[in-house]
Amino acid sequence: MDSFEFNKFAGAGLAAVLALLAINVGTDMAYKPVKPEKPSYVVQGVEADPSEAAAPAAEAEKPIAFYLASADASKGEAIFKKCGACHNNDKGGANGIGPNLYGIVGKGHAQAAGFGYSESLAGMKGKPWSWDELNAWLKNPKEYAPGTKMAFAGISKPEDRAALLAWLNSKSDKPLPLPEAPAEEAAEAAPAADAAAPAADAAAAPAQ
Ligand code: HEC
Repeated sequence: MDSFEFNKFAGAGLAAVLALLAINVGTDMAYKPVKPEKPSYVVQGVEADPSEAAAPAAEAEKPIAFYLASADASKGEAIFKKCGACHNNDKGGANGIGPNLYGIVGKGHAQAAGFGYSESLAGMKGKPWSWDELNAWLKNPKEYAPGTKMAFAGISKPEDRAALLAWLNSKSDKPLPLPEAPAEEAAEAAPAADAAAPAADAAAAPAQ
């Protein structure tokens, strides 16, 4: 092969490479993947959505007793579907990925026989699951018990936690009485003061 012929082949090779490159760049431009801002599906409650637990509360949350006073236990049953993949709360029911939860309200931490708890929960063994403890746990399991095995982000709405707790409490040999609702707080008193204002105006009017 003389050098002219070599150049011919080399040139053809180069042209082919360039053509491939052009196609490649072209298709990349044509089919640029569009990344959605949010993942298109989120598995409810299963860690994928840290924002649910981390979202800053718009306003300070009241004690759980406040929400329990108007909690709807039947709504709690629906919310328990989030837990049902790992827990059942049938009397004498088996442990699953998580321990059986029958009668959990008021029972001790790490109460299920034969369940392999994390060191974190095992370390609290026997301490009663009060309303407040359960509320804190379900709001943010990892904050309540760092190192827990419960892969659940938490429930951000206090109303939902209250409904769930009210329902869990009904699944028990001896349901606990609801805690005393806290005295009305400043937030509650404010609208009342507003409502009183027009009355004061009205009273002042005739005097003009
Ligand atoms: C992905 C599985 C999973 C989901 C979903 C889940 N849990 Fe759990 N849960 C666990 C595991 C595992 C443990 C044991 C945690 C440990 O040992 O650290 C646990 C522990 C608990 C405990 C402590 C029980 C005890 O014996 O002290 C309670 C209460 C509880 N879960 C309630 C709930 C509720 C209510 C929900 C739904 C809102 C829920 N969990 C959702 C897996 C899960």
